Amino acid sequence: MLISAKEMLNKAVEGQYSVGQFNINNLEWTKAILLTAQENNSPVILGVSEGAGKYMGGFKTIVGMVKGMIEELNITVPVALHLDHGSYEGALKAIEAGFSSIMFDGSHYSIEENIAKTKEIIKICEEKGISVEAEVGSIGGEEDGVVGSGEIADPNECKAISELGITMLAAGIGNIHGKYPENWAGLNFEALAAIKDATGNMPLVLHGGTGIPEDMIKRAISLGVAKINVNTECQLAFAKATREYIEAGKDLEGKGFDPRKILGPGFEAIKATVKEKMELFGSINKA
Ligand code: 13P
Repeated sequence: MLISAKEMLNKAVEGQYSVGQFNINNLEWTKAILLTAQENNSPVILGVSEGAGKYMGGFKTIVGMVKGMIEELNITVPVALHLDHGSYEGALKAIEAGFSSIMFDGSHYSIEENIAKTKEIIKICEEKGISVEAEVGSIGGEEDGVVGSGEIADPNECKAISELGITMLAAGIGNIHGKYPENWAGLNFEALAAIKDATGNMPLVLHGGTGIPEDMIKRAISLGVAKINVNTECQLAFAKATREYIEAGKDLEGKGFDPRKILGPGFEAIKATVKEKMELFGSINKA
């Protein structure tokens, strides 16, 4: 069964750990993440960007695949299926398709328009028991062709949005999607502390989880971060393992060309990455 992210994130705030949002890209990704969560008795959030949604054949296809796997692979840990950086129209489509959690990213609008549109999404989601993530400030880097400049969130704006009835809040604190540049200044903990002060027990979301040093992750969790998004790191691990398989010429040996064999090492690499993150985030045995 798919559930909203509300309870798992409120528990994470209370217990001072984070639940990982791992973005999915295909069937292997989905299966690797679900199995790893089950093996480690960890709650998990599957993230789907609008681009990945189109790639996988649409939101309904994804809902069918995830629900089917939960049932047939006997996944009993809490699983939320979450739209990542949704547009207003994308959010409506994902709700309609059966997603259990929605991020409406209105960070590129004025704060007034962001609030107005977030309110409308909350109203629709409340009736259906769907959790809602809003964003203030912006996350730097590029995702699905959307380039953000990485604006630090204003604590007053965070407070205003957190009072609308959202479940979780993504606030820009110097975090970036994708690999961090050599000269990255690091997370802005002063800003995070001010946002935490302004928003109380609201679960905070840290995007751009790839490549953030462990000490910064732990400090962020101690300051109220209860959900951490990871995408690129699984992609890098998958690509490396797949490249090694091909470079070793294994696809040319026997039935090594079978896609189930070619994708095997990448699948295991995603599992290892997800487990490592769950350990770091502290979500193991928190299901
Ligand atoms: P990374 O790709 O940097 O891990 O970021 C993922 C993310 O924040 C998805 O919203």
